[in-house]
Amino acid sequence: MHNVRQVAPDLWWVGANDRRTTLFENIHPIPRGVSYNSYLLLDEKTVLFDCVDWSAAPQLVENVEHLLNGRGLDYIVLHHLEPDHGAGLWAVAQRWPEAKIVAGLAALRFMDQFGFAPIPGERITAKEGDRLSFGKHAVTFYAAPMVHWPDVMVSYEETEGILFSADAFGTFGALNGALFNDEVDFEGVWLDDARRYYTNIVGKYGPQVQATLTKAAGLDIKMICPLHGPVWRSDIGWFVGKYDKWSKYEPEDREVLLVYGSMYGGTEQAADALASLLVQRGVKVSVYDVSSTHVSQLISESFRCSHIVIASVTYNMDFYPPVRDYLEDMKALALKGRTFALMENGTWAPNAGKLMGDFITEELGGTLLEPRVTMKSTLSGAQAGELEALADAVAADVKGK
Ligand code: FEO
Repeated sequence: MHNVRQVAPDLWWVGANDRRTTLFENIHPIPRGVSYNSYLLLDEKTVLFDCVDWSAAPQLVENVEHLLNGRGLDYIVLHHLEPDHGAGLWAVAQRWPEAKIVAGLAALRFMDQFGFAPIPGERITAKEGDRLSFGKHAVTFYAAPMVHWPDVMVSYEETEGILFSADAFGTFGALNGALFNDEVDFEGVWLDDARRYYTNIVGKYGPQVQATLTKAAGLDIKMICPLHGPVWRSDIGWFVGKYDKWSKYEPEDREVLLVYGSMYGGTEQAADALASLLVQRGVKVSVYDVSSTHVSQLISESFRCSHIVIASVTYNMDFYPPVRDYLEDMKALALKGRTFALMENGTWAPNAGKLMGDFITEELGGTLLEPRVTMKSTLSGAQAGELEALADAVAADVKGK
């Protein structure tokens, strides 16, 4: 059965939802699924903008066949060749071998490397500033390298003011019948997944996202059609503002993220006590067990929050391996500008604090608050004053005092 939605005059969503894949890129959990968005323009020429994952290709072909209603397909425009979009091309190219394939040079190369277009159709290389007219509608291409792969281009349709934004402004989450941002509770239900998507998939490339936002600022954008998640037709400035903050590595909230790594509960108990003291000082805190929280969630929260408190056991004279994974991921994604505070545990030789502190200052360029709280197995009642002092220091910094 076909499943399509009209997006604008002459333009239709023809993508598909995926609720079977559990790990996006085989890394990131997607319990709410994901959508692969494709769009079909029915103009004097017929144009398919992007494809879908291989698993969703039958749905894409059925949707396109339904809307073409016997017409041929003139163009396939590919803004991004990563297989979650490019793999479905194989099925589309088999069904409409006459379609001309339009993509950037790198995308065409990747298409061949992956083997997505075994049928030799005509190829048109799109470059920055190229304009392609399809009748009433025309698009102009803009390079957006590393948002999220080097092949990425976005395009702007000038009649309706539509930005085909590739991965930018995408999000995890299947489209459960809704298509537009104003058909869902985006801030309440989708924003966390949008942040987790951005920070983990594109987070490393903040300067490249900033460059793309600068190009987009010169366009009269009335609608954003991304490759994942809802189409934006209202409050566009609000979501662009989120991207602006994320790509500048600026926190959204002056709040505390408290991540603890605990083996037998002593460190967890101390982390809980600190959280309580912080809340009593008027500070919002989110607490996560590093062992049971996927690192993609910790990264997302690290982008959101201004302050990060880490409580870690000492393990093999190092800090806890899952804490190291978290901090290494933060380094890989180039997150900067956060303020940290530390608690360490070690039954006979607590060493995690110094090593975490060195990593934070030397590898992450982070700011470290004092004091650091050290416990041996558990935090004793006699150390209550130390915990109060740490809470005072963190709360004062969060509040900017
Ligand atoms: Fe949704 Fe970079 O692919």
